[in-house]
Amino acid sequence: MCGIVGYVGPRDATRIILDGLKRLEYRGYDSAGLAVVQDDGTLGVRRELGKLDQLVEKVVGEPLAGHVGIGHTRWATHGEPSERNAHPHVGPGGEVTVVHNGIIENFRALRDELEAEGRAFASDTDTEVIVHLVEGYLAGGAELETAVRRALARTKGANAFLFLSRRHPERIVAARMGNAGGLTIGLGDGENFVASDIPAILEHTREMVFLEDRQMAVVTRDAVHVEGLDGTPVSVKPYTIPWDPVSAAKEPYRHFMQKEIYEQGRAITDTIRGRADFDAGRVRLEGLPLTPEAARALKRVVIVACGTSAYAALVGKFLIEALARLPVEVDYGSEFRYRDPLIDAQTAVLAITQSGETVDTLAAVEEAQRKGAQIWSIVNAIGSQAHRIADGHILMHAGPEIGVASTKAFTTSLVDQYLLGCLLGELRGTLSPDDLRQRVDDLAHLPDLVGRVLDHGDVYERLAQTFYDRAHFLYLGRGINYPVALEGALKLKEISYIHAEGYPAGEMKHGPIALIDEAMPVVAIATRDHVYDKMISQIEQVKARGGTVIALATEGDAEIAQKADFVLPVPETPPLLSPVANVIPLQLLAYHLAVRRGADVDQPRNLAKSVTVE
Ligand code: AGP
Repeated sequence: MCGIVGYVGPRDATRIILDGLKRLEYRGYDSAGLAVVQDDGTLGVRRELGKLDQLVEKVVGEPLAGHVGIGHTRWATHGEPSERNAHPHVGPGGEVTVVHNGIIENFRALRDELEAEGRAFASDTDTEVIVHLVEGYLAGGAELETAVRRALARTKGANAFLFLSRRHPERIVAARMGNAGGLTIGLGDGENFVASDIPAILEHTREMVFLEDRQMAVVTRDAVHVEGLDGTPVSVKPYTIPWDPVSAAKEPYRHFMQKEIYEQGRAITDTIRGRADFDAGRVRLEGLPLTPEAARALKRVVIVACGTSAYAALVGKFLIEALARLPVEVDYGSEFRYRDPLIDAQTAVLAITQSGETVDTLAAVEEAQRKGAQIWSIVNAIGSQAHRIADGHILMHAGPEIGVASTKAFTTSLVDQYLLGCLLGELRGTLSPDDLRQRVDDLAHLPDLVGRVLDHGDVYERLAQTFYDRAHFLYLGRGINYPVALEGALKLKEISYIHAEGYPAGEMKHGPIALIDEAMPVVAIATRDHVYDKMISQIEQVKARGGTVIALATEGDAEIAQKADFVLPVPETPPLLSPVANVIPLQLLAYHLAVRRGADVDQPRNLAKSVTVE
């Protein structure tokens, strides 16, 4: 998704914007640019195809001097990646410039209308129409904010914009319509910031406000004035972001993904802290005010999510059904709203989303709201749409997850669902006090178990050396670990570009077994649990057909060492928490295979960290 940064204050806008864009690189992009209202009153614009380093080089050669500016990293939707299609775009009169995230769905009709009026366009983007419209209203005598409001009223689609006008060198106008990714306003001391994501401005301030759908803000160095698109003033609640800037930095790791894999012990500790009451043997969830009556009135939970979060939801089904005896359905965010779902006030719809801005998941939530369901969210990005619109939320407390491939958000969302299951189990009376205490106590050992899995990190480089040139992988798991097989396959696909499929192991004989040969490694999750013997049988079926097996096994399991070609040891873990430990070897396997193949681990091709377009 596109990255947006804006600054207004006494400092050099160019440096702050470029540094901010650097921290948004993980969002994936193909070109970048910035615009500054220069001290001489002109709009200075610099844009470049390719990575930020090329833009920096251009700015060094042609410096910009000013204290108000906007910047952008572009993930092309309309118009091929090029300098002319890069943002910012400037209106024909050179008055107004804009950066944009999202899609102006009716841009073609607007462009035809403007071209019929004799307007010439300098790019192939949808974005450019908005700056023509704004300048048109300015020319008609409107104030900047009014011109922006009128222009936005003509557009359709989910969009986020920053506008800059050389007539108003002291302000940035920010606007958000729909769920095209958030706009975060950072509140500084005599300066203010705007960004599409918190890490871009976290080093400057932790006080943030978040624009909601159909809101706009006028940001000057001393004030932030938020109003609805209809002009009514809006009071906004500032959030204090608990993340520190270091947590958004990569060092000393080689990649953000590697750092975030190794941070999981701490992230899980932070997720448990303050929620698992080990003395009382129970769970408290600060963001989910549930009474026993409300919990007992629930008929089922529907979890909506995408990608890795959808696989976390599949694990959550096992957790919540086991702990709270409450039926759980899981649906992809992109499917849910098109199936006219049968939900009502006795349904809790739980959105799991690291970014809190995934447009398919948010659209599913809106459908659920229309149908009267209670809305809960498990989210990592504080202040994101999914955090704010839910009736109850459980934060992941994973800290900023920068790598496109989700790792610590997955494991902390599993812990959140485990906590939710424990709370629902207590409120609904499906967990006795002793059972509940045992479940809560099991959490105490989880960070240590995760740390022990991470201790075996060196074995993965050797595995990567053996398998880096394979074209296909098959991942097999059973029960609560079959979603882990799906997640392991996704990790491999998205960062190494090796094709991989995850399957419930019992399904292998219904088709995938035809694929088994010596060229396609099979990763089997075979840690000790009630389906262990079935997994052993699956491993034997693969070996009988000449397949190669990489088995996840419980430490000390001598039997599996006789059957598998490679064993990845995992410490004994309570079955309901085994997905948290079992996914880590799969994350490390994918990471090291991708590194060995020279792939761009943190910014895989075609992928974005937060998918805010449909
Ligand atoms: C996972 O590694 C991918 N980056 C992707 O599947 C991601 O999980 C999905 O886009 C959902 O994102 P969210 O959790 O922010 O909603």
